[in-house]
Amino acid sequence: MEKLEKREHDFGAKLRQKSVIDNLRQYITWERQLRDSGTAPALPPLSPVSINLDLTSACNFRCPHCVDSGIINTGEALDLDTIMQSLDTLRGRGLLSVILIGGGEPTIHPDFEEIVRYCRGQGLQVGIVTNGSRLDRVARIADLLGEGDWVRLSLDAAREDTFRKSHRPGKNVTLGKILADARAVKGLNPSISLGYSYVIVWEGISINGTELCRNIDEIPEAVALAGDYGFDYVSFKPCLLRLDGSLKESLFSRPDKEREDRIIREIRENMDKARAVSDGTVKILESVNLHAMLDRSVHELKRQPKVCHSQFFRTVLAPSGVFHCPAYRGVPKGRIADSDGYRGHEGFLSTHGSLERSIREFDAERECNVIVCFYHHVNWWIERFIESGRSVDELEVVEDNNFFL
Ligand SMILES: C[S@@+](CC[C@H](N)C(=O)[O-])C[C@H]1O[C@@H](n2cnc3c(N)ncnc32)[C@H](O)[C@@H]1O
Repeated sequence: MEKLEKREHDFGAKLRQKSVIDNLRQYITWERQLRDSGTAPALPPLSPVSINLDLTSACNFRCPHCVDSGIINTGEALDLDTIMQSLDTLRGRGLLSVILIGGGEPTIHPDFEEIVRYCRGQGLQVGIVTNGSRLDRVARIADLLGEGDWVRLSLDAAREDTFRKSHRPGKNVTLGKILADARAVKGLNPSISLGYSYVIVWEGISINGTELCRNIDEIPEAVALAGDYGFDYVSFKPCLLRLDGSLKESLFSRPDKEREDRIIREIRENMDKARAVSDGTVKILESVNLHAMLDRSVHELKRQPKVCHSQFFRTVLAPSGVFHCPAYRGVPKGRIADSDGYRGHEGFLSTHGSLERSIREFDAERECNVIVCFYHHVNWWIERFIESGRSVDELEVVEDNNFFL
């Protein structure tokens, strides 16, 4: 059987894993019936394979670049009971992984440890995206995490001054302390995959009148630090902007070819230096949109199929509701239910009805044409398969490994 190894961004292969491929087959069959007959069979009542679970809107950092700045610190949080009941419902219908993220900062939810315990007790794979300020709480659940689970720290800097300007943390929080805490977590459980996340910022990006702090030159230092502190990988992605609710690429939003060329060259040079610095123990990952930016294929990758197929396989459960896509968290047109939308089977079926409407009516070609979608490749792959008329039995099964989408 085909293996998934080293293919963390190959969502097409992930959807063909042994425990997931039947969902994919049912979805493709449903979509074909819909297209062929125009009448509507019910969408197969399966849970997403993976959810983003935003525990709280509260955040203890004030990052000027934050794409979610409009939805944080609203006073909303998911309560433990809703979370547990929603996980029960979804698990019973095939949920396999949960990413604890935000919106806000997941580790400041009062029940953070209990929630991780509950997810692991249900056999779910767990990923945690955190600013690193409360790694003491991650340390308390470190022994529950296993092979395939991960903790990713949004650090975006290699120097204290840049870290401070980029995150505006409380006065006792330093990059040095976070790195030391991260090494301690890894020491408690070496099987956790530990990530250093780095949003690349160049000069001239302003949000709400504040110019963001450039960090391109620190890319090689970040990779060196990641090696020193026991990280498994550094993942680089470009800084996005949120304008009128929609996420947008920042580099190509104003046409200035000379500027674009210079920034791309500087990022490339620093990525090359980073590869030279890495001793091979730290993987260097580039997001789909960074790759497209450096490749100048952004315009091509902004063209999405009309139907966003990924929403069937992954959604967001947040204090402000259930959303069909992480890029639309907190945005009314991406909202498909209230925050109790997965609590109990009736709730699930009603949310699933909204999801079905979203799959039929949300026009990704039009709505998502300002962004390189992370799911661009898998959406096109599913679209082409649907149109190909090939039998779903021809889809090749991949060994189970990684259910994060
Ligand atoms: C908003 S944070 C919330 C979770 C947690 N508090 C944290 O700091 O990671 C979720 C993710 O969004 C990313 N992010 C925030 N603003 C961004 C931007 N302007 N461009 C790209 N990614 C961004 C962060 O790097 C982080 O990985």
